[in-house]
Amino acid sequence: MRKLPRDISRQSGQAVGIAGQSALHDSAWLHVRGQARYIDDLREPEGLLHAAVGHSEEAHARITSMDLSAVRAYPGVVAVITLADVPGHTDIGPVFPGDPVLASELVEHIGQPIFAVAATSHTAARKAARLAKVEYEPLHAVLSTQEALDTSFFVRPSHTQQRGDPDKALASAPHRLKGEINVGGQEHFYLEGQVAMVEPLEDGGMFVHTSSQHPSEVQKLVAEVLGLPIHAVQAEVRRMGGGFGGKETQAAALGCVAALLAQVTGKPIKYRLSRPDDMVQTGKRHDFFNTYDIGFDDQGLIQGAEIMVAGRCGFSPDLSNAIVERAMFHSDNSYFLDQARVTGHCCKTHTVSNTAFRGFGGPQGMMVIEQAVDDIARHLQLDPLDVRKHNLYRPGRDTTHYGQVVEQHILPELVAQLEASSDYRTRRDEITAFNQQSPILKRGLALTPVKFGISFTAKHLNQAGALVLIYTDGSLHVNHGGTEMGQGLYIKIAQVVAAAFQVDVDKVKVSATRTDKVPNTSPTAASSGSDLNGMAALDACEKIKAGLVAFAAEQYGCKAEEVRFENNQVVAGEARLDWAEFVQKAYMNRVSLSSSGFYATPKIHYDFATGKGHPFLYYANGAACSEVVLDTLTGEYRVMRTDILHDVGQSLNPAIDIGQIEGGFVQGMGWLTTEELVYNDKGRLMTTGPATYKIPAVSDTPPDLRVNLLAASPNREATVFRSKAVGEPPLMLGIAVWSALRDAVASLTDYRYSPPLDTPATPERMLNAVNAARAWANTEQETA
Ligand code: MTE
Ligand code: MOS
Repeated sequence: MRKLPRDISRQSGQAVGIAGQSALHDSAWLHVRGQARYIDDLREPEGLLHAAVGHSEEAHARITSMDLSAVRAYPGVVAVITLADVPGHTDIGPVFPGDPVLASELVEHIGQPIFAVAATSHTAARKAARLAKVEYEPLHAVLSTQEALDTSFFVRPSHTQQRGDPDKALASAPHRLKGEINVGGQEHFYLEGQVAMVEPLEDGGMFVHTSSQHPSEVQKLVAEVLGLPIHAVQAEVRRMGGGFGGKETQAAALGCVAALLAQVTGKPIKYRLSRPDDMVQTGKRHDFFNTYDIGFDDQGLIQGAEIMVAGRCGFSPDLSNAIVERAMFHSDNSYFLDQARVTGHCCKTHTVSNTAFRGFGGPQGMMVIEQAVDDIARHLQLDPLDVRKHNLYRPGRDTTHYGQVVEQHILPELVAQLEASSDYRTRRDEITAFNQQSPILKRGLALTPVKFGISFTAKHLNQAGALVLIYTDGSLHVNHGGTEMGQGLYIKIAQVVAAAFQVDVDKVKVSATRTDKVPNTSPTAASSGSDLNGMAALDACEKIKAGLVAFAAEQYGCKAEEVRFENNQVVAGEARLDWAEFVQKAYMNRVSLSSSGFYATPKIHYDFATGKGHPFLYYANGAACSEVVLDTLTGEYRVMRTDILHDVGQSLNPAIDIGQIEGGFVQGMGWLTTEELVYNDKGRLMTTGPATYKIPAVSDTPPDLRVNLLAASPNREATVFRSKAVGEPPLMLGIAVWSALRDAVASLTDYRYSPPLDTPATPERMLNAVNAARAWANTEQETA
């Protein structure tokens, strides 16, 4: 077989594929050939049973009776369990309680699991689960954010961040505008749905294969529901077919249910959700209702702001407090709000518990200020880009409403570069001219920035561990706490280890994430996978290197400073050895060739009570310029071109980073345009598959998509090789598409009216916006 190229770029004199070079995703070939194994592809253990759950058909009700006899009698059914059969903890809420592993008397959303079945086949388990006779006494179901707000029905207390005296600033500002927006939710639509496979061990413990971003939490919760010590359970994640936040907390329920059934039956259990069940039973991106009241001067400079963000959390807290908090932290996006108050509410509704989704509330928060900035521009008859540039954080105007100072001012320069490279001004003139002579098709253009805070806002999560092993042939093995979900974390960590020893990345193997190799890990989330685990791996490498350097210095009679690792060799004074030869010598001389490593992010703190602190180590930045064309007769549109300039510091792997940026942008665009979650008036999700829920297809992506990394921009913080996180920030580049769509509609009024545009901006909403703009223009004419 031909040896497949792993590297796609090489720098002369350097080892191949080390940090800083583009290297293929370690599973790229397995992915494209269908050979990468996901949990449902694993060889099935003998005696495997399949799980399914019966779930609530009411949004809010008391269960008055439950008859499971038909379920138990169904051919192939081996066991049926309810909450009463759980030997240990019954609540699997990740941070706060509120998520019973199975509901008992009270159900709080349609789709909430109430009992679980193990059967000899997947189909038998699912069919049996439908045979339960459950009677409910319906209770009043709160389904809308509005009702929750009106009645202060919250899953967690509300929170405020304030800087200065916004009331005074608003009262004295030369101009003042108010607005509101409903920002839609989003289904994760990972290609591999939620799944777990659990095998009972000989000592009463459990081995859990889980498609989870947070194996340590799966391990802990499985142990808790079973009433076992944590060490009795091992969890393993080789890869996920996408997580996007949806598998940060909510993968655990599958592991727990499967483990409970495994304990009862003594058999291995696989629990895999069908797409419709996945969409009904698991949480999504929170939809938000946001309002703003903003004061500004004649140039559009913001002087004061009062912002409210309200997330629809569903029935339980899950991660909602942190998500609403991140929405608050990002309601300024890239702009200095001066005197500002931001309030966040965690609205409780009797719907599935919403959860993490790429950006973690940040995107929903940014929408309110991006809307406001466009509104200011229309009000003052300015180009929105000028208002945006005018309000960017810059020296002297650099303290956020939560007190963190923006220290690295990347955006003014980045936006200027993108403005030039995208030809924004020329195209603006062309588009205005085009729109004047085109009665039906209207083009729109927008350039929007992104500033995204990097770190978990829960401080304790900002830690990581790694384990690096070197074998006697010079091959290396690294294991770390991060999980692979397609984002390229494994190859990046391999590149970091390769760079530490200056060996080809081919020599480094990264193996499945396992809780018995690196313990107490944080979820792979908040875009911090490579920041945290990269540093932990580097720490392990440095410890091994210290021993190797001391050995080489002694063995070859030179100073420690004279030992160098370069291009697959070790140089010690006059001696020059191949890496493998050197490692063998070190082994024979009884030098340790393995180490664990650890990292804790410095400098971060935040006080919830005062709403002040330094919650992020640094900010990642980017900007996108999108052009759209809108058919004003149908509301349909196309994105014609998008230019992106994004800041990843000193990239660990430019090819992977560009892939993350492209994917993030398209996912953000889908969120704001076509992906619509529809619930009926009983609280039932009506969009439960690709036929009714539209994610972007290749044909929806801009035919002209130009992505560039900001050059020469090392992170000023001492991150792994001065790189920056890349996972989530690009999603918010999709906001440029939404803003460009508003721009196209505004052209109907000579850019004097700013059309409200809730998201997703489906053709239906676009048509409504077109009609609103036309109606506005008509009244203007009459009154003129
Ligand atoms: N990219 C792919 N291909 N698949 C994913 O599931 N998840 C995103 C992002 N990029 C995701 C992805 C989310 S929500 C996060 S937080 C980060 O990857 C997590 O990985 P990282 O911290 O290693 O960047
Ligand atoms: Mo990403 S939403 O932090 O998993």
